[in-house]
Amino acid sequence: MTNAAATFPNLTVVGHPLVQHKLTRLRDRTTGTRDFKALVSEISMLMAYEATQDLALENVPVQTPLEGTTGRHLAGKKLALVPILRAGLGMVDGITQLVPHARVGHIGLYRDHDTLQPVDYYFKIPGSGEDRLFLVLDPMLATGGSACQAVTALKHAGATRIRFVCLVAAPEGVRRMLTQHADVPVFAAALDRGLDARGYILPGLGDAGDRLFGTT
Ligand code: PRP
Ligand code: URA
Repeated sequence: MTNAAATFPNLTVVGHPLVQHKLTRLRDRTTGTRDFKALVSEISMLMAYEATQDLALENVPVQTPLEGTTGRHLAGKKLALVPILRAGLGMVDGITQLVPHARVGHIGLYRDHDTLQPVDYYFKIPGSGEDRLFLVLDPMLATGGSACQAVTALKHAGATRIRFVCLVAAPEGVRRMLTQHADVPVFAAALDRGLDARGYILPGLGDAGDRLFGTT
């Protein structure tokens, strides 16, 4: 068992070589907006592959060109993707290439620069139903304030099966999720060292929203 796994039983770090290679390009300060956007999308698709590996299947009859057989398809309600605006939006396209029928909700939150507290401004999600799986998407899990608030709002709306998918996580954020939402597994491409005085992840990749959308 790795140290991270022992400390954070809620965390899965996706160490796949393609994810790690692309993440390094994402961290690189010389990577421009166009490549940054493409890389976020590609890594998100690979992360979703990992975060959905235990989805339930059910048997269905299928007719091949040669004969009838039994295949398997996804059972239950369609997956829901819930990006946290803005930066989470960059993760949606890649995942919907993998799961085209996924429903998409949106949670609008921004982190106040002075207090680092999340401020909410939008909430719209697909009906929760009993068994719908919600993947909350945000590239950055820093203090964990935004992720925890998003998950709390989803639970209030009736969601019972929630997973959080990010690209870079700080120990502070993973710990906060474990404390406040131990039932929510966290998937990350990297667990970084910590936070700086302004709440940025170190080494991180900078401000994900600004790099995705070309703002400053
Ligand atoms: C970033 C990021 C997360 C949040 C993480 O968004 O995309 O939502 O900060 O920080 P936390 O874990 O400390 O809450 P930001 O608030 O910068 O908003 P933006 O996506 O609109 O730029
Ligand atoms: N939000 C970001 O975009 N980057 C960080 O490092 C922390 C919060």
